[in-house]
Amino acid sequence: MKAVVWHGLGDIRLDDVPEPKIEDAHDAIVRITTSAICGTDLHFIRGTMPGMREGRILGHEAVGVVEETGPGVRNLRPGDRVVVPSTVACGTCSYCRAGYYAQCDNANPGGPRAGTVFFGGPEAAGGLDGLQAEYARIPYAHVGLVPLPDTVDDAQAILLSDIYPTAWFGARLAEIGAGDTVAIVGAGPIGQAAIACARIQGAGRIIVVDGVGDRLELARDQHAETVDFNAEDPVEAVVRLTGGIGADRVIDAVGVDAQRPSHGPAADALRSQGEQFDHERDEAAPEQNPDGGTWVPGDAPSLAARWAVRMAAKAGTIGTVGVYPPQVQHYPFGEAFMKNLTLKMGNCNHRRYVPDLVSMVAAGRLDPTPLITRWVGTEDALDAYRSFDRREPGWTKVALGVAGDGSVAPGLGEAAGTGAATTAGTQGRVATDQERGGDRS
Ligand SMILES: NC(=O)c1ccc[n+]([C@@H]2O[C@H](COP(=O)([O-])OP(=O)(O)OC[C@H]3O[C@@H](n4cnc5c(N)ncnc54)[C@H](O)[C@@H]3O)[C@@H](O)[C@H]2O)c1
Ligand SMILES: [Zn+2]
Ligand SMILES: [Zn+2]
Repeated sequence: MKAVVWHGLGDIRLDDVPEPKIEDAHDAIVRITTSAICGTDLHFIRGTMPGMREGRILGHEAVGVVEETGPGVRNLRPGDRVVVPSTVACGTCSYCRAGYYAQCDNANPGGPRAGTVFFGGPEAAGGLDGLQAEYARIPYAHVGLVPLPDTVDDAQAILLSDIYPTAWFGARLAEIGAGDTVAIVGAGPIGQAAIACARIQGAGRIIVVDGVGDRLELARDQHAETVDFNAEDPVEAVVRLTGGIGADRVIDAVGVDAQRPSHGPAADALRSQGEQFDHERDEAAPEQNPDGGTWVPGDAPSLAARWAVRMAAKAGTIGTVGVYPPQVQHYPFGEAFMKNLTLKMGNCNHRRYVPDLVSMVAAGRLDPTPLITRWVGTEDALDAYRSFDRREPGWTKVALGVAGDGSVAPGLGEAAGTGAATTAGTQGRVATDQERGGDRS
């Protein structure tokens, strides 16, 4: 079968690889119809997330059809359409039962303290092949796979694999409540999805910060207030827009590949910190293999975190979902301490949120499709990766149509992502029963 395969830093290829087989009673084989490229995949190729093995299939976002099930999978049959949550969890341990699926005790072969397991990631993340392929082996399929109603097509479902659950989780981490002013740092797919999630969770105002013009436009299409960090100092802008107070809640949707502003007042203000950021970049990406302007690691790894802390109101909350790998050692801890900030972070507990999000989409309350700005066939996956890496105009989120017929939603295809608002008529707080039960994110 065809798959996107990691060979080294700056080196991914479209390879022919063997089809996966059932290895455990709780496995399923899923025939992928639609996959997607994520900002997380870029960290592996730029060198800001270490530990990938040569030959690993990439990708952790997919919609597909169950092809085969192991004898332990009692709730699904071949032919069922499913969305695949990015992280893998056993469903049995105390962490899974409490909703912390990303901290499962059993899914990682390295043991209970070895960390989150996800598809197409480093060996430390379980060493699982990914979903940018024609078929994938899904461990703990009886827990992970979420069935899709016929009314939710691939275009509506593909962003429920990772993007919307992570954005929802980020908004929960940030403790968004009714009327809060929320700043979202980063207008990639996660930041974009966080707009609708923050709004449904009750946000009063939403301010989005990025330096890429068409991504800011996509945020404005959703009626977020936008700040271009190459035109304004984003901390000053957010403080000014909030009457000198700052944002009650901040979501960091950037992570380790944060970039310095190229020009404008924020670039001037940061000039004296150039050496500090160079040092952080060397720490975050000790090895790298850029190809001209492609696969270049972020040149200011702590900058999104620094801005988040500075633009937060006193006693505010920061929810960090942008990824920071273990080698990153810099955070503006003292500034956060002095403002009595609450800091929450981590890998999304996808399985906790995906079923509710499927219901919201099926009910017409949430429409993820405008965020899919490109829909390409697997044969064009490598070019799509490069365009997404360079944040080229129009390449905010790429869905990969893996199975031709099965993939492209009727009437969508190339026209995906024309930019309509993504909350279909829902304003105001909507809490699920699960949420009302406790404050665990
Ligand atoms: N926690 C989780 O479970 C989880 C899940 C999925 C993705 N992620 C992470 O979320 C992050 C965003 O993912 P994505 O797919 O949206 O990626 P992306 O790379 O498309 O988005 C990052 C955005 O941040 C912007 N940016 C860069 N420097 C900035 C700065 N200094 N200030 C403000 N914005 C800046 C970029 O222009 C880009 O639009 C990544 O780190 C990804 O790994 C985390
Ligand atoms: Zn992803
Ligand atoms: Zn578990």
